[in-house]
Amino acid sequence: MRLSKRLKKIASYVEHDAIVYDVGCDHALLSCFLIKEGIAKKVYAGDNKEGPLKAAKANIKAQGLEDKVIPILADGLKKAPYDVDTVIIAGMGFNTLKMVLEDTDIKRFKRFIVQINHQVSDLRAYISDHNYKILEEGVIYDGFYYEIIVFDTTEGRRLSDLEISYGPILLKRKDEVFIDHLNDRKGKLLKILENHDDPKIKEEISTIDSIIK
Ligand SMILES: C[S@@+](CC[C@H](N)C(=O)[O-])C[C@H]1O[C@@H](n2cnc3c(N)ncnc32)[C@H](O)[C@@H]1O
Repeated sequence: MRLSKRLKKIASYVEHDAIVYDVGCDHALLSCFLIKEGIAKKVYAGDNKEGPLKAAKANIKAQGLEDKVIPILADGLKKAPYDVDTVIIAGMGFNTLKMVLEDTDIKRFKRFIVQINHQVSDLRAYISDHNYKILEEGVIYDGFYYEIIVFDTTEGRRLSDLEISYGPILLKRKDEVFIDHLNDRKGKLLKILENHDDPKIKEEISTIDSIIK
């Protein structure tokens, strides 16, 4: 089974020999990939619904990975075993992500790899407010621009408003996909501006221009 560019990019942030908990694994495509590629040592594939977990179990069995990919029916991280060091939470909304983080003692995990489809700046504000530390950030285009954030719960620093909106590491690195992402956003804002003269939109466009230049 082919893995999407988005899930491959997420996999690239998993450290060698990690013991991973994939929250909301769905069909366990990413969980299986992490073992097949020799990236993770063990993966717990968790989902809170019977349907996706059934599909995950079938997929794990079809690939003969039953000893290394362990399905768990659970809400968030509530049943995460004690050997887990890395948590992946991908493809969910910010509110679900927040609930998952707040329903458990997250300090016991070493590394979080998170990808939400919207409200990424709310996620950065959340990380900043809790003094967590962003370790890595990336953007991938897979029919849509997805941002991935890697963080831990060691002492971080407060992020500026600009960093919350655009990402402290993305702003520093300014790689090609990030600039494409900003140009895409600018294009959308210019379209809105055609019918709606909004000073806030003008301000965002000039912020984007100052980052790009
Ligand atoms: C949109 S899919 C994302 C699947 C995969 N993580 C990805 O990024 O492609 C969301 C999955 O998360 C599961 N899910 C939603 N809320 C959850 C929760 N609180 N705990 C565990 N799984 C959850 C859903 O059942 C579904 O299988």
